[in-house]
Amino acid sequence: MKAIVLCAGKGTRLRPLTYTTAKHLIPVANKPVILYTIEKIKSAGITEIGIIVSPENKEDFEKTLGDGREFGVHLTYILQPEPKGLAHAVSMAKDFLGDEEFLMYLGDNLILDDIRPFVKEFEEKKELSALIMLSPVSDPSRFGIAVMENNRIVKTIEKPKDPPSNLAIIGLYLFRKDIFEGIANIKPSWRGEYEITDAIDWLIQHRGTVEGHIIYGWWKDTGKPEDLIEANHKILDEVIEEFKIEGVIEATSSVHGRVSIGEGTEVVNSVIRGPVIIGKNCTISNAYIGPYTSIGNGVLIENCEIENSIVMDEVRISNFSARIDSSLIGKKVEITEMDGKPKGVQIIAGDLSKVIVAK
Ligand code: DAU
Repeated sequence: MKAIVLCAGKGTRLRPLTYTTAKHLIPVANKPVILYTIEKIKSAGITEIGIIVSPENKEDFEKTLGDGREFGVHLTYILQPEPKGLAHAVSMAKDFLGDEEFLMYLGDNLILDDIRPFVKEFEEKKELSALIMLSPVSDPSRFGIAVMENNRIVKTIEKPKDPPSNLAIIGLYLFRKDIFEGIANIKPSWRGEYEITDAIDWLIQHRGTVEGHIIYGWWKDTGKPEDLIEANHKILDEVIEEFKIEGVIEATSSVHGRVSIGEGTEVVNSVIRGPVIIGKNCTISNAYIGPYTSIGNGVLIENCEIENSIVMDEVRISNFSARIDSSLIGKKVEITEMDGKPKGVQIIAGDLSKVIVAK
C-alpha cells in the first residue's frame, strides 16, 4: 500500500509563520509536525509516500525531508499548482498511486492512536470502497462530518451549519481506485473547493460500501497557534520517553523533571522545570524556563521567564520583565526590554504578527 500526505494549501491561520515555513514544518517538541505523520505511516508498514506540496513550499519540504531515507521511507513530491481542495490534491497523485489501494493523510493532523488496526481492517474488508477515521467532537460544524448507521457511513458533509452528527472526519482516509471516479464526478463546493467529502458521498451513492473507524484518543488539527501549543504540551507530556542532557549546566542552575538539553547548550544561573526540550548551541542565562516549553537551536534566553511555549531557532529574548506564556515565537525573532525614556514599546513586526502586552 502507498500513502499520500496533503501539505499544499496556504496555512492562512498560522500567518505570519507560514509566510516563511509551511505549517507542516513548524516544530512541535523540536520536531516538524510532518515527521510525526511520517512515523505513523511507517509504523503501519507503508514506506512509499507521496507528499502533495504547493509551488511555494516544495523547496522547503525537499530541503527538510530530502528523499526520506533518513526516516526509513521513500518520499516522492507531487505538485498541486493551486489549493483547489482535498479531492483536487488527490487527483494530482493519480499516476503515483496507480490502481493500488492507498492511505490519505492530512499533513497538519497529529494523532496519538495506533493506526495499524485501521489499515488492517481495510486490508481485510475487501468489499469496502473506503474506510474513514472518525472521532466524536464537541464542535462538529468546524469539520467534515459523517452520519453513521451501524458501521456504515450513509452521508458525509463538509463543515455543516447544522451538524446532523458529532462524528468528525479527522484527516485519515483509506481508499481504493474507485475514489477517482467519485472525484471526476464532483463540482466545487460553496467555498470553491473540490471537497473529498463530496467524492466520498458520491461513492456512498453510486458504488460500494464506506465505513467509519472511530477513535477516542487525542488528536489535533494543528491549523492555529493555540493548537500547536496544545500539541507541544501533549507530545512533551506523553510521547517523548527519552530526555537527555548533553549540554552544560553550571552549578548555580537547577533542573527539575524531564528535561532535554542539546549539545553545546549552556545553562547558567537558571531554573528549568520540565518537561522541557532545549536544542543545540543555546545560551540560557539568569532565566526561568517553565513546563511545556520547546526551544530550538542557537537560541539566547537571558534575564527573563518563559513557559508553555514554542521558541524556534536563533531567537533572542533578553531582559524582559513579563513572563512569556503560551507563545509561538518564529525563527530569528528578537524580544527585549530597554531602560530609559521615553517609556514605551517599540515593535518591528511582520504582516499579521501578534503582540499581546499585559497592562
Ligand atoms: O482537520 C480535519 C478536517 O480537515 C476534516 O474534518 C475536513 O473534512 C477536511 O476538509 C479538512 O478541513 P480543513 O479546513 O481543516 O482543511 P485544510 O484546508 O486545513 O487542509 C487540510 C490539509 O490538506 C492541510 O495539510 C493542507 C492540505 N491541502 C488543503 C487544500 C485545500 C492540500 O494539500 N491541498 C488543498 O487544496
